[in-house]
Amino acid sequence: MRKKIIAGNWKLNKNRAEAAALAKSIVAMYRPEAGVEVVLCPVFTALESVRQAIDKSVVRLGAQDCYWEEQGAFTGEVSCSLLKDAGCDYVIIGHSERRQFFGENDLAINKKVQAALKQNITPIVCVGETLQEREADRVEEVVGTQLRVGLQSLSAEQLEKVVIAYEPVWAIGTGKTATPEQAQAVHAFIRKILTELSVPAAAEKIRIQYGGSVNPGNVKALMSQPDIDGALVGGASLKAESFIDLLHFQESARV
Ligand code: PGA
Repeated sequence: MRKKIIAGNWKLNKNRAEAAALAKSIVAMYRPEAGVEVVLCPVFTALESVRQAIDKSVVRLGAQDCYWEEQGAFTGEVSCSLLKDAGCDYVIIGHSERRQFFGENDLAINKKVQAALKQNITPIVCVGETLQEREADRVEEVVGTQLRVGLQSLSAEQLEKVVIAYEPVWAIGTGKTATPEQAQAVHAFIRKILTELSVPAAAEKIRIQYGGSVNPGNVKALMSQPDIDGALVGGASLKAESFIDLLHFQESARV
């Protein structure tokens, strides 16, 4: 049984005080018996404030990116050992905004995944197609390549520790969500590729999040699909009430 994992990707939002206040509200309102693994991913400068706000709670800390080298002349970069030192257990890697605006490719993503695993940080590896690619019926080709290259040379043991986030680019921040059936079809395909890359027993353990306009109204139907093991949430993670509704999805759509 895979434990559901819901992560808030705060993107480039919230200063230290705002981030700490949001994290404190989430800790106060979240009922751990909901049994969801909760991860908050603020901007780098707010990591320490959020770390303090979630201290001694079940909520975990994640970063939104990392660099693969540990130290040296790499101006502006942050390594995985520094993220570990900052209290991170997770790091988002290869988000479509990084691919789109910062030119990240699957080979760079692969190096980042390996660097994160080396520091015992769980990488949340993002994959997903654009609208144009979906319309051209290229979803499996695109997502398949992202997985095969992004996860290359990992052992089955390493792969088990990875979290995948399927985020169709056309659904991110647009209010358009993939239907539960559309998402499930791609999640099942992803698990098939993961089986090829590792072994069936390992692929069964890997959690695959859905991301793209997840909100309190659609979360339950998405989470009820057999291969959807959580969510990576942007917009709806920026307010405590809506994020808590997502974390408590099993109880009702609105709590
Ligand atoms: P969204 O973002 O929930 O605002 O669509 C999701 C993401 O980019 O991770």
